Amino acid sequence: MITAAKRLDGIGEYYFSQKLREIDALNKAGKNVINLGIGSPDLPPHPEVIKVLQEESIKPNVHAYQGYKGVPALRNAFAQWYKTWYNVDLDPDSELLPLIGSKEGIMHICMTYLNEGDRVLVPNPGYPTYRSAAKLAGGICTEYELTEEKNWFPDFDQLEELVYKEPSPLRLMFINYPHMPTGKLPTKELFEKIVAFGKKHNVLICHDNPYSFILNDTPMSLLSIEGSKDTVIELNSLSKAQNMAGWRVGLLCGSKERIDEILRFKSNMDSGMFLPVQLAAAKALTLGKEWYRDLNSVYTRRREIVFRLLELLGCRFDKSQAGMFVWASINADYKNGYDLSDEILNKAGVFITPGGIFGSAGEQYIRISLCSNEQRLEESIARIKDVIRK
Ligand SMILES: Cc1ncc(COP(=O)(O)O)c(C=O)c1O
Repeated sequence: MITAAKRLDGIGEYYFSQKLREIDALNKAGKNVINLGIGSPDLPPHPEVIKVLQEESIKPNVHAYQGYKGVPALRNAFAQWYKTWYNVDLDPDSELLPLIGSKEGIMHICMTYLNEGDRVLVPNPGYPTYRSAAKLAGGICTEYELTEEKNWFPDFDQLEELVYKEPSPLRLMFINYPHMPTGKLPTKELFEKIVAFGKKHNVLICHDNPYSFILNDTPMSLLSIEGSKDTVIELNSLSKAQNMAGWRVGLLCGSKERIDEILRFKSNMDSGMFLPVQLAAAKALTLGKEWYRDLNSVYTRRREIVFRLLELLGCRFDKSQAGMFVWASINADYKNGYDLSDEILNKAGVFITPGGIFGSAGEQYIRISLCSNEQRLEESIARIKDVIRK
C-alpha cells in the first residue's frame, strides 16, 4: 500500500484549494458564484512590465537555467526599492534573496531553522501557511492571540509567558503588519518592541510584509528599526501591490548570515527564475507614486461598496484597515463566520471567507476581498439583499 509520509498527518489540503473545487462544482451547476474570498489581484501589472517580459522572452539566449541568487538587475532593483520606500539599506550582493513568491520563503525559513520539536510563535488569527510550514518542518506551533480589544497587536506580557511555556526551545516567530486578515497597520513602537523581544530571547523574527502598499500611504519595514538585522528577516512580494500574483516573485531580506543559511536550503530545492520574469520584476520595482496612487484609488472605491455590503449583513468593522481585504465582526444572528459564509454561498451564490480559517480567534469574523470589480461587488449586494435574514 502506498501511504503519505507521517509529516503530512494533520496537514489538510489548503482551505482555498478545497473551496475553489466546491465553487467550481456550483458554477458547473449554473450558479455563477461571485468569489469574494481570495486575495489574487484581478488587475494586470503595469504595461511597461509586460512589455519587458515580451521583449525579453523573444530573445534566443534567455531560456537557460539562472543562478540561485537572482540577476544583478533584479537584486539592485530590490535594494533600491527598499531604500526608496522603506528607507532601509540592503547590500544588493549579500542581504537579499529573490524568491518564487514569498509563500515558498515561509517554508524555506522553517526548513532552515527548525529542528524536530522546536517551537514557533504564530499569530491567531494569521496566515495559515505559517502554521502548516512550521509543522511540515517538524516544528511545534505556539499561538499568540490577537484580539480586537488589544488593537490586533500582540500582548507582550502573554508573549513573555509563551517563551517558557514548553520545555522545547522557541526558535522562530512570525509576525505580519499590515496584518492579514485584520488589516491592522503597524506602528514604530510596535516594531521596536518586537525587535527588542527577538533580541532578548534570541528568537528569529520573520516579518511577512506583502501588504504595505495597499490602502496605506506609509509603507514600513521591520528592518527600518535600528539594529534589527541581528534578529529579523523580512519577506516581501510583488503579488499584491504590483498585480503580479501569478508571476511568483517575492523577496527575502536580512543579514548576510541569514541569507546564506536560507540559500543553503533553497538552492537544493529549485533554480533561479526565468530571466525575462526577473527583468520585468525589476521594472515593476521602479514604478513610482502614480502607480500606487492609481491602484489605491481603485481599491478605495471598491472598499466603499464592501462597507455597504457589510452594513447590509449587520457586521461591525474598522474603516481604517489596510491591505486588500475588509475584516468584519459578524452579528449575533449567525453562530459564527462559517455559518454566515455557508448561508450566503448557498442562498446568494456569493463566497465570503469565514474568519475561522485564520485561527480560533477569527471565528466570529469574516473577510471580504477587494479583488473584484465594482460591478461584481454591486451585484453581490443585490443578491445578498434578496436572501438576508431579516
Ligand atoms: C500574509 C500573506 N503572506 C504571504 C502571502 C503569499 O504571497 P506570495 O504570492 O508572495 O507567495 C500571502 C498571500 O495571500 C499572504 O496573505
